[in-house]
Amino acid sequence: MKLWGGRFTKDEDELMELFNTSLEEDHYLVEEDIQGSIAHVHMLLNNHILSEKEGEAIVHELHNILEEVKCGALQIEGKHEDIHSFVEATLTERIGEAGKKLHTARSRNDQVATDLKLFAKKQAHMVLGLLSELNESLIEKATQHKQVMMPGYTHLQRAQVVTFGYHLFAYVEMFKRDQQRLNHAIELLDENPLGCGALAGTTHDINREETTKELQFARPVANFLDGVSDRDYIIELLSDLSIIMMHLSRLSEELILWSSQEFSFVQIDDAYATGSSIMPQKKNPDAAELIRGKTGKVYGHLVSALTTMKGLPLAYNKDMQEVKQPLFQALEEVAPSLQLMSRMITTLKINEAEMKKSIKAGFLNATEVADYLVKKGVPFRSAHGIVGAIVLYCEENGTCIEDLTLKELQQFSDVITDDVYEYIDYEAIIKRGNKKEMAN
Ligand code: ARG
Repeated sequence: MKLWGGRFTKDEDELMELFNTSLEEDHYLVEEDIQGSIAHVHMLLNNHILSEKEGEAIVHELHNILEEVKCGALQIEGKHEDIHSFVEATLTERIGEAGKKLHTARSRNDQVATDLKLFAKKQAHMVLGLLSELNESLIEKATQHKQVMMPGYTHLQRAQVVTFGYHLFAYVEMFKRDQQRLNHAIELLDENPLGCGALAGTTHDINREETTKELQFARPVANFLDGVSDRDYIIELLSDLSIIMMHLSRLSEELILWSSQEFSFVQIDDAYATGSSIMPQKKNPDAAELIRGKTGKVYGHLVSALTTMKGLPLAYNKDMQEVKQPLFQALEEVAPSLQLMSRMITTLKINEAEMKKSIKAGFLNATEVADYLVKKGVPFRSAHGIVGAIVLYCEENGTCIEDLTLKELQQFSDVITDDVYEYIDYEAIIKRGNKKEMAN
């Protein structure tokens, strides 16, 4: 059953067999593996390395195998080392001698690299689609609430007034960058490794341009050694996925905070929350917490892949089998995280009144009072000191700057006149000058 039994005099230790196989996780690659094999056989046929009859029998049965796997009639199981061995063994079992010719002019090393690149490209496109959906949800919610004022924070301390729409649009920018990163990763990985052989190409007169075209790669790889030992694209995808999760996690953290009693800015829909087994009143933001939690796992997959690759000499080494799973598992976390975030945003209820109320506390217009003084000729550093003293006075008297009388304000600076109130009005601040984007 082994692809490579010829030079061996002993069976593989059973534990070694279990240790060696990647068949279970390889189900992710079955479609790409068969797609790659079909392109390979078409090329062998065109170049008269296989006869018409053999080639057609192989391609026909490969299609059958894929269909059966897809509908569940054929299970990916048995004592096979990997998906490549499984497909070849199944094929040969069914069509006999011709099946044994599938692997002509190919190694599992260029085969697995081809499968992985096809898979990576497809998944990157899938994630791009989910990012678009999420951004649509964010843009819609932001647009509905674009004029709702809320405190902006630094150090999680109230800082200056912003709008809820503007806050959400910050995330739209992050996810747009994530899309750019993925598109760039796709551009870099878009090279066909099929034809690299084990490491040094093949003596058969193959045509790499043909498989490149059929598999829709942009070009063939330039160097065989690199072609079979490159896993940069997995690491790159994993870092892009990690950054996506980092963004989702920051948004999750804000949703968790905002939905707490202390903030009461938003309400997460019941469909994305859970209750407590003991405290009947509880509604916990589990979806957001899980996204935040799974972010760490995805980072782990990135570090795992980086670490696996760091000491490997050229070309293929079996260690590289261990960087497949991190990619598969990371995708299993990222895809539902993006979908759930999108749904959570779409169904999110915004507590406009609470947000508006919170504007009054925290001296969100203090910076504008200083700017006002500067406009009246006070040097900024002195203005900063004056407003600091005003804030202290307000804190001592339990009030806010806009509620002080003109007389009180003038105790701190005699340049202050009646027009200050208009200048430090929260809505006016949002609508003014370079902050106009926040209002529209
Ligand atoms: N199962 C291997 C992997 O996933 C395929 C390549 C094996 N190549 C080899 N020479 N053993 O990486």
